[in-house]
Amino acid sequence: MEDFVKYNWTKINDQEHIAKSAILFEEMNRRRSIRGFSDDPVPKEALINAIRTASTAPSGANKQPWTFCLISSPEIKREIRIAAEEEEKLNYGQRMSEEWLEDLKQFRTNWQKPFLEIAPYLIVVFKKVYDNDGEGKKTNYYVNESVGLATGFLLMCLHQIGLYTLTHTPSPMKFLTKILNRPENERPFLLIPVGYPEKDHEVPDIKRKETDEILVEYP
Ligand SMILES: Cc1cc2nc3c(=O)[nH]c(=O)nc-3n(C[C@H](O)[C@H](O)[C@H](O)COP(=O)(O)O)c2cc1C
Repeated sequence: MEDFVKYNWTKINDQEHIAKSAILFEEMNRRRSIRGFSDDPVPKEALINAIRTASTAPSGANKQPWTFCLISSPEIKREIRIAAEEEEKLNYGQRMSEEWLEDLKQFRTNWQKPFLEIAPYLIVVFKKVYDNDGEGKKTNYYVNESVGLATGFLLMCLHQIGLYTLTHTPSPMKFLTKILNRPENERPFLLIPVGYPEKDHEVPDIKRKETDEILVEYP
């Protein structure tokens, strides 16, 4: 049985709530996925803190069913690029529907993923479909929700500390399990290059939904 400990929390006033929320919205509304990275180095300690922040996310029954692989090895990045491009060649050439390809046109993407080698770091998020602590299989709960939340925390944190990311899914991503030598209970969830945008990088001029399209109030 776990002990309970006193929770130290602080109450701030309404004006502070509003001011903080407005600042955070402005900052997060500037986050964009980037698809062209420079090879400028970034401090590893900051990435480790970001990963620790991600791991503060809530998870079903506190199972924390995630592993974050932090990759800077040029050899491993190269292996990942080659394997990802193999899958993406099939995705763009045969596996994606006409509708999907049409939806992707605005991003000017194709099967080529040079940024997987250029970005100083790749973070691969794995979800633990069950736990295997040596004493046999243990169930994890709400794994996708939990790992999605942790990844959201990670992306938000990286943006807040001035780093840039892409949420990348060169599916199927089984190759990541093999290249990174992960155990059978871990499945690749997302591949996130991290760094700075390349010089004069352009992003698609996407629109975010208006508040009245995403919010339903019940006063
Ligand atoms: C689950 C998921 C998978 C994604 N996979 C890819 C991908 O494989 N390649 C890519 O270029 N963008 C990918 N994206 C990025 C989206 O295209 C991008 O988040 C969206 O267009 C909104 O743009 P923004 O991130 O700049 O706001 C993915 C995003 C999510 C959430």
